[in-house]
Amino acid sequence: MSVSEDDRLEPFTVLPIFPTLIWATQVRPEARERINGAFMTAINGARAKQPELKPTGKWQTDQRLHTLPELAEFRDLVVGSARQILDSHHIRFQEIKVTGCWANVGFQGSRHRPHAHPNNYFSGVYYVSAPRGGNTINFFDPRPQAAVMVPPVEQMSPMVAQSMTLDVHPGSLILFPSWLYHGVDVNRSSEERISVAINLMFDPYVEDMSTPLWEGNLKVSPE
Ligand SMILES: [Fe+2]
Repeated sequence: MSVSEDDRLEPFTVLPIFPTLIWATQVRPEARERINGAFMTAINGARAKQPELKPTGKWQTDQRLHTLPELAEFRDLVVGSARQILDSHHIRFQEIKVTGCWANVGFQGSRHRPHAHPNNYFSGVYYVSAPRGGNTINFFDPRPQAAVMVPPVEQMSPMVAQSMTLDVHPGSLILFPSWLYHGVDVNRSSEERISVAINLMFDPYVEDMSTPLWEGNLKVSPE
């Protein structure tokens, strides 16, 4: 990006340091059909056993969907993506594992207030269904002090925004740092919005990653 128009200056180099990265992709149709079919079978099976539940607000499944054999393809797809991201950043790790995976069924009028996913490294969301009017997710600037000074802008961009809204579709898969606040607007569609949340964490963590990253030069402890 070129900023300088002053003849006395070379163009500025703009350094996007400490970026907040969000990875968004689309599961291709063939795999999406299999994965969505597996989710719908699991969710509908559970719903059929609980006929007393009224379709209002939001339903959330238990958090162990990643343990279901029929959802192994989805789990492996997400874990594989997380591994690739970590490798691309040259992060040393032994393994990254799913610590929780659950589905949200959001009926008309349902929303999800801003929140983070503590005690994990990556979180993700996958959309089984995303009806028009319920097909967005919002991410919020993690720098609270940035809101102290908000000059008007003529054209919004990720460089100046306080929040970013992403459009999603059936098959959309988004990965993001677990600490990043996000929320979902009211579902204005009469159709159900079905999303799947997933958390991932390093394993082993304490033994492999929590010890100091430096060594002292005065030896006191035994080996
Ligand atoms: Fe979330």
